[in-house]
Amino acid sequence: MSDLFDKTRRSFLLKSLLGSTGMILPTKALSFTNAGFTTNDIPKGNSDREWRKVRSKFILKSNVTYMNNASLGMPPKLVVNAVTNGYKSISVEPLIGKRELQKKIRSKTLPALARMFDVYKDDIVLTRNASEALFLQAMGVELKTGDEVLVTSQEHPAGSRPWMYRKNHDNIIIKNVFIPSPLISKKDTVNRITKEITPKTKALSFCHITRGGHLYPVKEICNEARKRNVLSLVDGAQAVGQFPINITDLGCDAYASSLHKWILAPSGTGFLYIQKESRKRIRTLFDPDFLAENPSYEPPGTKDFPLRAAIYEAVNFLQTIGLEKVNKRCRYLSNYLKQGLANFNDVKILSGADGEISAPGSTIFEKEGLDAVEAVDIVYKKIRTHIDEHQRDGHNAIRISTHVYNTKREIDKLLNALEMI
Ligand SMILES: Cc1ncc(COP(=O)(O)O)c(C=O)c1O
Repeated sequence: MSDLFDKTRRSFLLKSLLGSTGMILPTKALSFTNAGFTTNDIPKGNSDREWRKVRSKFILKSNVTYMNNASLGMPPKLVVNAVTNGYKSISVEPLIGKRELQKKIRSKTLPALARMFDVYKDDIVLTRNASEALFLQAMGVELKTGDEVLVTSQEHPAGSRPWMYRKNHDNIIIKNVFIPSPLISKKDTVNRITKEITPKTKALSFCHITRGGHLYPVKEICNEARKRNVLSLVDGAQAVGQFPINITDLGCDAYASSLHKWILAPSGTGFLYIQKESRKRIRTLFDPDFLAENPSYEPPGTKDFPLRAAIYEAVNFLQTIGLEKVNKRCRYLSNYLKQGLANFNDVKILSGADGEISAPGSTIFEKEGLDAVEAVDIVYKKIRTHIDEHQRDGHNAIRISTHVYNTKREIDKLLNALEMI
């Protein structure tokens, strides 16, 4: 068990932080620093005015608007500085710098991630992105000829392609479960998946939030899988950093994610979580003497130490604000966008209005006669705003992904531009 972060130690820490009043001391006491905020800087509500201080922590060009966070998150300045300082440290005295960064990764980055997702530190390894983590996740599952794996129709290629490889090389059967976009309901999504499970099914591979911003009922799906002794393998690339996630509580066997989207960590960072009990059924590709007690899932070799160390600053930034506040602010902005789009008679909104089936920060919609790929360029040229397309799942959709740093004014500007196109 981890010497840095285990549940016993955490519960001891929490107990020692409970004063005579029974109140838990603020996050700072739990070793997150204040990320350059004073107490008054932390927004209480959702208005742009209250989020102005948060916005001031980013270094985006003043004449540009960024609404493509779901592709690549925009790190705040303190993350940029941490990366820069990390590279300096391995340049001025490489081995000492490396040792210091490794220490920071062990003592800060991994415990911060473990705490953010409520998992044991030893159950996560860092990767370069979600794609790498998803590949390790899929390649490791013990399967024999004729075994089935269910993959849903809305998976990102990073989630489905490793299974194509296994199909071709290991003679397993991949069943594609169709999930409609927009989603119909939580129950419908669970039913569509569970009714395809057969005695041959060994694993389910599915998103927490799809590329198009639909929220799958992960806990319910994992529960159905567990009842049938089927592994549940989750792609969390679009989920982590938008709202609080307790991975242990989700009950999945493995969870793969990038950290450079909604967590706002440096580009080229991600993680893979594998639940202890599931180590018996998910091998590592890297250790010929693999033991469940000492699994080494991490790709070997020299790492991008400055990036990995700076994940800590990104996690600290979001934790200082509070993920429930991030969730509310993201939802507030996307609701504002949806309200504006609802006034167009040539726009079809494809994201669910219900928070139970839609992501807080991603919105997809189609505009009659407008090619979504072309729209990306048109909008940038017109108003210097970065947006994205979602020409998948049967749609010719535009995807707008807004994080806490966006504003209603920016959304108004986008709505005006869309009106004129
Ligand atoms: C749902 C989903 N999964 C996986 C990925 C791949 O993420 P990465 O590029 O970090 O590997 C993406 C990228 O957009 C995604 O949207």
